[in-house]
Amino acid sequence: MSLSIMSTERLLLREMTKGDVGHLLTIFSDPEAMHYYPSTKDEKQTIDWIDWTLANYTRFGVGLWIVEDKMTGAFLGQCGIVPQEIDGNIEMEIGYLFVRSVWGNGYATEAALACKNYGFEQIKLTKVISLTDVNNLPSIKVAERIGRKKEKTIKKWGKEVHVYFASL
Ligand SMILES: CC(C)(COP(=O)(O)OP(=O)(O)OC[C@H]1O[C@@H](n2cnc3c(N)ncnc32)[C@H](O)[C@@H]1OP(=O)(O)O)[C@@H](O)C(=O)NCCC(=O)NCCS
Repeated sequence: MSLSIMSTERLLLREMTKGDVGHLLTIFSDPEAMHYYPSTKDEKQTIDWIDWTLANYTRFGVGLWIVEDKMTGAFLGQCGIVPQEIDGNIEMEIGYLFVRSVWGNGYATEAALACKNYGFEQIKLTKVISLTDVNNLPSIKVAERIGRKKEKTIKKWGKEVHVYFASL
């Protein structure tokens, strides 16, 4: 059994488990979905990703969550609050990766908005960020749709990324 975190009009967000390898691989094995990441991920790298997420739950009380269709239980993607190091400080990022076949339905925006509100209301964050590759327009649009403003552009993961933020 996995723990439910929150639900929205169309979505359920729940904790990731070791049983989600197959779900996550539908995103991680897709070169188009992983275009702005260093590479696709194989099964071993997916297990490492789950372990990193479970460690974030323990250490920070948050991490990436699994997003499901509330009505059908179908796996749609992952969205959540992820600690990231920015200029030597830990900042909380709203991260989102969805299965390509469900892009264009507003699911990422709906999930990211819920995560932003959860961060402010449930865990009392005063600022959340998003890191987006400067060329990742769909990701930039999600950041802007949930009311974040561009703070700066930094070098991270060997490339230029925009830092978007929202604060209370
Ligand atoms: C980034 C990513 C999650 C964005 O997905 P997306 O489906 O474009 O974003 P949304 O879920 O917010 O959907 C928005 C689109 O759905 C449309 N839409 C359809 N029905 C909608 C509804 N009921 N409500 C809102 N939007 C709706 C919007 O008009 C918008 O279309 P547009 O972009 O052509 O204007 C997706 O591209 C992805 O998973 N990429 C791979 C991983 C990645 O790069 N993640 C970001 C790392 S920083």
